Amino acid sequence: MKGIVLAGGTGSRLLPITAGTSKQLLPIYDKPMIFYPLSVLMLAGIRDVLIIAAPASMPAMRGLLGDGARLGMNLSYAEQPEPRGIADAYIMGAKHVGNERSALILGDNLFHGAGFQDLLREAREKTGGCTLFGYPVADPERYAVAETDAQGNLIGIEEKPSRPVSNNAITGLYFYDSDVVELARGLRPSHRGELEITDVNKLYLEAHRARLVPLGRGFTWLDAGTFRSLLDASQYVQVLMDRQGVRVACVEEIALRMGFISAAQCHELGLAMGHSGYGRYVCDVAASMA
Ligand code: G1P
Repeated sequence: MKGIVLAGGTGSRLLPITAGTSKQLLPIYDKPMIFYPLSVLMLAGIRDVLIIAAPASMPAMRGLLGDGARLGMNLSYAEQPEPRGIADAYIMGAKHVGNERSALILGDNLFHGAGFQDLLREAREKTGGCTLFGYPVADPERYAVAETDAQGNLIGIEEKPSRPVSNNAITGLYFYDSDVVELARGLRPSHRGELEITDVNKLYLEAHRARLVPLGRGFTWLDAGTFRSLLDASQYVQVLMDRQGVRVACVEEIALRMGFISAAQCHELGLAMGHSGYGRYVCDVAASMA
């Protein structure tokens, strides 16, 4: 299975912070934003990941993550000259995906909660159709909104509706079978001039091949696209760190726990950052699993 992190866009809602850097490289508390979506793909057991980013942020992005070998991953990169919608990830990523199934995640989405890895495993194991994740929010009009029947089956999807039928937002994590590239290629740009992922999802829905997995209220899903949500996300991660001593989305720890790297390799990665609390945490995790 292949993975894509869509980390393009201009970050215009975060200007001037994003005038000199990409949104997905901004810190969420102790680590760059892109670690959060990347860690989700890693938890799903996906090691082969395409990172799509704006040309200006590519040197920094590559400098940060490289070819992924140090995490036991295989990372590749594609430059997206301008934002053309989320579904464009599958036009740009057609070669990367090939005939395989895939997962796409947006570069500013943060997921955290008990049992998430099991949900990811189930989504990964489904062989046909697409899997979407729903999450109750206070402001559904900002997102794609899911309509479900009494049994919780997905029956409708609407992108940023002015009058949402529910408070169930569709998150920025999508699992697809190998049909997705052809479906994306057949899309027409929306009134926003973009290739909408919601239009892809509607095609799966019309074919009765879309399922919605609810992420309950005990779960946390945040997107860090505004000043407020950027700070919220940092504070959320800090509270967990201070209270439980865990660092959410520590990619070195996840690489170790997933068996992508050895404890010795993890220790080396921690040592290289030994002057920071993050680096010492990576060393401690490595020692506890040696
Ligand atoms: C995008 C999608 C939307 C989805 C959201 C999740 O919105 O278009 O369907 O619910 O991501 O973060 P955007 O962030 O482009 O406004």
